[in-house]
Amino acid sequence: MPATPPRPRTAALIVAAGKGVRTGGDVPKQYRVVGGRAVLAHAIDALAAHPGIDVVQVVIGAGQQAAYAEVIEERMLPAPVEGGATRRDSVLAGLAAIAGAERVLIHDAARPFLPAAVIDRLIAALDSAPGAVPVLAVADSLARGGDTLGKAVSRDGLVRVQTPQAFRTDAIVAAHHAWPADREATDDAQVARAAGHAVATVAGDPALDKLTYEADFQMAEMRTAMISRTGMGFDVHAFAAGTSLWIGGIEIPHSQSLSGHSDADVALHAIVDALLGTIADGDIGSHFPPSDARWKGAASSRFVEHARDLVTARGGLIDHVDVTIICEAPKIGPHRDAIRRAVAGLLQVREAAISIKATTTERLGFTGRGEGIAAQAVATVRLPANP
Ligand code: CTP
Ligand code: MG
Repeated sequence: MPATPPRPRTAALIVAAGKGVRTGGDVPKQYRVVGGRAVLAHAIDALAAHPGIDVVQVVIGAGQQAAYAEVIEERMLPAPVEGGATRRDSVLAGLAAIAGAERVLIHDAARPFLPAAVIDRLIAALDSAPGAVPVLAVADSLARGGDTLGKAVSRDGLVRVQTPQAFRTDAIVAAHHAWPADREATDDAQVARAAGHAVATVAGDPALDKLTYEADFQMAEMRTAMISRTGMGFDVHAFAAGTSLWIGGIEIPHSQSLSGHSDADVALHAIVDALLGTIADGDIGSHFPPSDARWKGAASSRFVEHARDLVTARGGLIDHVDVTIICEAPKIGPHRDAIRRAVAGLLQVREAAISIKATTTERLGFTGRGEGIAAQAVATVRLPANP
């Protein structure tokens, strides 16, 4: 009997069918490029990358198919559904498409910067409430507007409500069907509340603020601005008796081995220090002390993965790593491609971003005398300029 496909537990619904009238310009705001990617692409990627989200469904406007296809590129998503004249119409169209999911996070495409921690908090809150929303305190004074300032409004107890807004799907679908058709709702939490559902609040994030006006796009560019950082690493290991050695994540048969902490992979150790240098975060010794049981005897590949994760945790992108291995023997040339592949795999970058070079020291010095192997690495990463 064919297996029934599992019901996705958690769907993300991105409403992207608006016209962006308040922003103006030729292109609806969700298709404008900020930090090298369309606003909608940022929102999709943040949700698709989260392990708690099983499927991302996008709702697009009539006539936006071509713009959408250009944004999607190779991303694997279900076909978009067409939205309606109001945000609520668009949400209803999207909810019909993900009806099978147990939980849904409804998100505005116009909020491109979505921290994973907010998604974590929303999903966790759904365990004890049928709905949950991210909120932020109001910092400014509030008052009625007009040509001259109107009456002050107390901000006591007021919050700004963001998206994604998370719901148990059955609850939000029923709430939308109970909502009067002729009344607009600016978000889904008010629809859920009107139907009597408790909506929990979790901490929102200023990065989630909606792009509404042209000036918001200037702030968004600042948020996505990147700076380039270069770090260097150097390491040496002495030869010891043995029949193979580890260099650059591969094991090479040789008449000697290398002695040292873990597998003594001199090239990977240099890469770790170069990566740590880009984020000015100590060195291999401070992160992986041999005294720490967690790292005792660990393969150097784990050190590289950990350093890579430290860079990516800061929003960093590894642009390039250049390695020079310094020894008389073994010959590195025949292994260069395998090392390149191994390092690219560990760093999760394309092979074109990894350069592996080797040199002798003309029989001079400790490497020339065949006492050990040295390695140098230079790493270039991009980091958020305004974290
Ligand atoms: N939205 C939608 N369908 C609509 C209207 C809005 O899917 N008929 C979406 C927008 O694409 C946006 C989100 O709802 O991601 C929040 O709406 P808003 O910021 O108001 O976007 P727009 O309606 O596009 O902008 P404006 O109101 O300035 O025209
Ligand atoms: Mg609108």
